[in-house]
Amino acid sequence: MLFKRVKPLDLILATAEKKALKRQLGPIQLTFLGIGAIIGTGIFVLTAEAGQKAGPGMMISFVIAAVVCALAALAYAELASMVPVAGSAYTYTYGVMGEGPAWVVGWALVLEYTIAASTVCVGWSGYMNGLLASHGLGLPEFLRAGPLDGGSFNLLAFLIGVVITLLLVLGTSKSAMVNTFLVLVKVIALTVFIVLALPRVQEANFHPFVPNGWGSPMGGIGVLGAAASIFFAYVGFDAVSTAAEETRNPNRNIPIGLIGSLGVCTVYYLLVSYGAIGAVGAQPVVGSDGAPLQPGTPAMAAACKGSDALVCSKEALAHALRLLGHNRWGDLVGAAASIALPSVILTMTYGQTRIFFTMARDGLLPGRLTAIHPRFHTPYVITLITGLFVSLFGALFPVGALADVTNSGTLFAFMMVAAGVLVLRVTQPDRPRSFRTPLAWLVCPLAVLGCLLLFLNLSLKTIVVFFAWAAIGLVVYFLYGHRKSHLANGTEPV
Ligand code: ALA
Repeated sequence: MLFKRVKPLDLILATAEKKALKRQLGPIQLTFLGIGAIIGTGIFVLTAEAGQKAGPGMMISFVIAAVVCALAALAYAELASMVPVAGSAYTYTYGVMGEGPAWVVGWALVLEYTIAASTVCVGWSGYMNGLLASHGLGLPEFLRAGPLDGGSFNLLAFLIGVVITLLLVLGTSKSAMVNTFLVLVKVIALTVFIVLALPRVQEANFHPFVPNGWGSPMGGIGVLGAAASIFFAYVGFDAVSTAAEETRNPNRNIPIGLIGSLGVCTVYYLLVSYGAIGAVGAQPVVGSDGAPLQPGTPAMAAACKGSDALVCSKEALAHALRLLGHNRWGDLVGAAASIALPSVILTMTYGQTRIFFTMARDGLLPGRLTAIHPRFHTPYVITLITGLFVSLFGALFPVGALADVTNSGTLFAFMMVAAGVLVLRVTQPDRPRSFRTPLAWLVCPLAVLGCLLLFLNLSLKTIVVFFAWAAIGLVVYFLYGHRKSHLANGTEPV
């Protein structure tokens, strides 16, 4: 039954307001767009978590996560070019596998977007707290982190979430010029870090290289466990796939933009992690029994109290520079992160409201949620609700736990998209595709397997949260969306 309600792709295209977008993006602009969406909390903050999970072996984790993303990105781009409408993976799944799976994907995307926004709120607060403290203005300890992380309420993470929400209600969006500026700020900050750290690299800091081994299923530790977490550092590349309709010669330029931005970021990430590991060391902190501690746990927070270790830092890159004696540069890199990270929160929160909007338009969520503010012309109800959760999760949970939950939802959505490409190749071979996944029958299965591998290397706790969330979603669906669906009731507003 769940798989029966497949929304015809033509209906999806008709329902969505079809804007004739000008094909103006070339390979360079696309690559910039991708880099802008990708670089954020992952490299600036989660480098510390990855170090705790994998030690110096986190460099391999960065490569594994990049390969999985590249495979998933190639699949994503084909569906994005066929169905270039809001709602991304949710909409594609509705058109390929049916309403039930689409609902589950949409529900999982809440993890991708809402929780990612919370993750970046916490990442931002780490850098802001560091900056304030280095000027003698530090907040009291209990307001610097959530309850699992050695504090009580992460005040700055909460406040930045509230500010971004209000900006979205007022109708702020990022202009291309602002995006270019922020990309430059981030890239310059990472370049400064690399230039200062590389000359201080010491061979001894790379031993042992994989202190926690390769990882075990649901262990959330080791090289694969770190890859599953650091996957977060690449989330956002789908921005390139979704620009297919605005791209000149998409068959050539989309893969260049995707692989280009992922490639540039991977090189940066490898150089930054090589510099951080080599210059200041990244060996994991262990408990009294000698076993590595899980980041984002009270035990880890206790072991990190007063520690200077990179893996304990909440502002990894600024902290590493300060350890190297570059206090001023540390502050500047911290300032760059503080300027650039809020735009990732804005993009993610905005993305979430658009997905809810699409789901409500399909009748699967109450239409009241899509109410538009009379003065600001923005969907303020859904924005305020989303923003409240973004801020609260940011205030209460550790950055690594939030990132892992984000990844679980994102990996699930990517698996469905990669499978969807193959389903459509069989069921609708003649439908026009402005971009075709190269070697689809190899790339898509590998994308599914890669996502599955990372998913299974998340911690057991994260996987339980994912399935609990999915189960709640199914209950909500059967109580509401299944009955109210416009597709089922023939009330589709075309
Ligand atoms: N990739 C983005 C970040 O690391 C989501 O912040």
